[in-house]
Amino acid sequence: MAQPSPFVEVDDLILRFPVRTRGGRQFITPVHHVSFQIADGEVLALVGESGSGKSTIGRTLVRILEPSGGRVSVGGQDVTHLRGRALTQYRRVTQMVFQDPFGSLNPVRTLEQHLAPPLKKFQGYRGRALSDAVDGLLERVGLSPVQTFRGKYPHELSGGQRQRVAIARALAANPRFIVADEPISMLDVSIRAGILELMNELKREFKLSYLYITHDLASARYFGDRIMVLYGGRVMETAASRELLKRPLHPYTRLMFAATPGSRWNAPLPETRSEPPNLLEGRIGCPFAHRCPFAEARCREETPELRALTSDHQVACHLAEVLN
Ligand SMILES: Nc1ncnc2c1ncn2[C@@H]1O[C@H](COP(=O)(O)OP(=O)(O)OP(=O)(O)O)[C@@H](O)[C@H]1O
Ligand code: SF4
Ligand SMILES: [Mg+2]
Repeated sequence: MAQPSPFVEVDDLILRFPVRTRGGRQFITPVHHVSFQIADGEVLALVGESGSGKSTIGRTLVRILEPSGGRVSVGGQDVTHLRGRALTQYRRVTQMVFQDPFGSLNPVRTLEQHLAPPLKKFQGYRGRALSDAVDGLLERVGLSPVQTFRGKYPHELSGGQRQRVAIARALAANPRFIVADEPISMLDVSIRAGILELMNELKREFKLSYLYITHDLASARYFGDRIMVLYGGRVMETAASRELLKRPLHPYTRLMFAATPGSRWNAPLPETRSEPPNLLEGRIGCPFAHRCPFAEARCREETPELRALTSDHQVACHLAEVLN
């Protein structure tokens, strides 16, 4: 039987920014030839350390940023260079939940005033049906009794409650796809699981696909159906979460697993150096070569392509078979 076509298709994505260096004006490409797909109703967890390009990819998918190269297609529509009305319409199906719920809410608006406008604009609710829809959303994200929460302001809520409002506001647009950029990293550890569980329930109920961005492999493997590991703006490894957990192949992924508490993969990797990767345009070689204990001359001269070792496990490392 033919496979259903993916909901999100990213092909050879490049983001390019000018930077001032000692040699004058140059360009960095913090997202460098990145390709991936997200199926309908699937969660792709994007993991990598700070500066690896995760948010830049997320912001490009919701089209806050426009790609410098490559193609992004969502729900069968090429959205790479959408403008004007078409871009506004696209923003109805794609929502973003940010790391800092306080910064993403308006301090002078009540919860009702956050939720009613998108319900009106994107779903056409009016009058009594509109206030019922506001209450329904508050209830659904766990902010009840709704009579109490409807008139509250963001500063009257806890961090976790504010993130629930941000999630409700995203849902109000009736999206098909949500980019969640580190949605739990600013919250107390004790309430993180509750927010992830809520996003998981909403995925099934509203048939959502997610790009879930995180530093943290533990939450990636809990929430992600698949995990994609990014380093220096390139994809290092991607596999189903269970497979990646059982058999991490890329040295960088192994390094991340070794640093994850409770990981079954506990073979530590003797890192050579830990400075950030080179992001300048035109770089060649493996971005991880300066830190990788297995690096050989070829790794600095030839960029390893992402290649499939099994049908759903891809790795960008010259030595993937040897290290397997
Ligand atoms: N508009 C821009 N101009 C210049 N450089 C940029 C711009 N946007 C992002 N960058 C650079 O791109 C790189 C990747 O940034 P990005 O925010 O995507 O990383 P990240 O993986 O989300 O990191 P973090 O985990 O810290 O959020 C960084 O070096 C950043 O400085
Ligand atoms: S390609 Fe070479 S440097 Fe890069 S991860 Fe593999 S062994 Fe290490
Ligand atoms: Mg980020």
